[in-house]
Amino acid sequence: MSRFAGKVALITGAANGQGAEEARRFAAEGASVVVTDIDEANGQKVVDTITEAGGKAAWCRHDAGSEADWQAAIALARDRFGGLNILVNNAGIVPRTTIEETSLGAWEKAMAINLTGPMLGMKLAAPLMRDSGGGAIVNVSSAAGLMAHYDAAYTASKWGLRGLSKTASVEFAPWGIRVNSIHPGQIEGTALFSSASPALAQSLRASIPMERAGTPTECADLVLFLSSDESSFITGAEIAIDGGYSAGSTTFMRQQMKKSLGS
Ligand SMILES: NC(=O)c1ccc[n+]([C@@H]2O[C@H](COP(=O)([O-])OP(=O)(O)OC[C@H]3O[C@@H](n4cnc5c(N)ncnc54)[C@H](O)[C@@H]3O)[C@@H](O)[C@H]2O)c1
Repeated sequence: MSRFAGKVALITGAANGQGAEEARRFAAEGASVVVTDIDEANGQKVVDTITEAGGKAAWCRHDAGSEADWQAAIALARDRFGGLNILVNNAGIVPRTTIEETSLGAWEKAMAINLTGPMLGMKLAAPLMRDSGGGAIVNVSSAAGLMAHYDAAYTASKWGLRGLSKTASVEFAPWGIRVNSIHPGQIEGTALFSSASPALAQSLRASIPMERAGTPTECADLVLFLSSDESSFITGAEIAIDGGYSAGSTTFMRQQMKKSLGS
C-alpha cells in the first residue's frame, strides 16, 4: 500500500463525495494529502479520519474559483509537505438550468468553479510540480463534457475542461507532468447525484447500458491509476467512467424499447 509513498497530492472539493474518497485512498497508499473545499466541517472530518488512521493530511479552506485561495493551498503543500506531485481538480457545481433559464451570474459562478478554477490550479501548481520532480494532474469533467446535456453552464464548463486538459497535457509534458480528464456519468453517494429530481435520476439511469450508477470508489480507482506510475505513458486522454452512457445510450434505449414491445 505504498504506491504514493513520498508523494504530495492536492484535491479540490475533497470534503464530500468523490474527492473525500480520493483523499482517503491517496493517504492510505502513502501520499500526504492537502484536502481542500469550502465545506470546513466535512473537510476537517476527512483530515481527522486520515490522521486517525495514521496517514498524513492537512485541511485548507479553498474556494476553487479564487486565485488567492489557490496560492494559499499550493503554499500549504510546499510548506507543510515539501512540494506537490498530484493535483486533482475535482470541485464542481451543477446549476441544472437550461440556456433560457440561465442567469449571467449563475453562468459565471459555474464557469469560475468548474473551469477557471482548474485553469488557475494548473497554472499555479505546475511550476511547483515540475520542481518536485513531475507528477500528474487529473481533471474531473463529466459525461456532460462528452455529449449534450440538459444543463447549459455545466455542459459548457465540462467541455471546456476537457479541451483545457489536452492543452495542458502538451504544455506540461516537457516538465514531466501528465494531464488527463475523467468523465463520470451518474455517481451515487454524492451530493451532486442526490440533487437530481427522482424523475431526472430515473430517466438518466434508464439510459445507462450497465443499468446502474457508479460509485466514488470506482472513480477513486481511476483517479489513483491516472496519478500513479502505472499510467506513465497516458497523457491528454479523456476517460469515460459512466457504465457505457456516453458510448451508446440511445442505442441502448432503442434495444430496451424493442424488448418492451416484444419485437
Ligand atoms: N456525482 C455525479 O453524478 C457526477 C457526474 C459527473 C461529474 N461529476 C463531477 O465530479 C466532481 C465531484 O463531485 P461529486 O460527485 O463528488 O459531488 P459532491 O457534490 O458530493 O462534491 C462536490 C464537492 O465540491 C465542493 N465545492 C463546491 N463548490 C466549491 C468551491 N467553490 N470550491 C471548492 N469546493 C467546492 C463541495 O463542497 C463538495 O464537497 C465534480 O466536478 C462533478 O461535476 C459528478
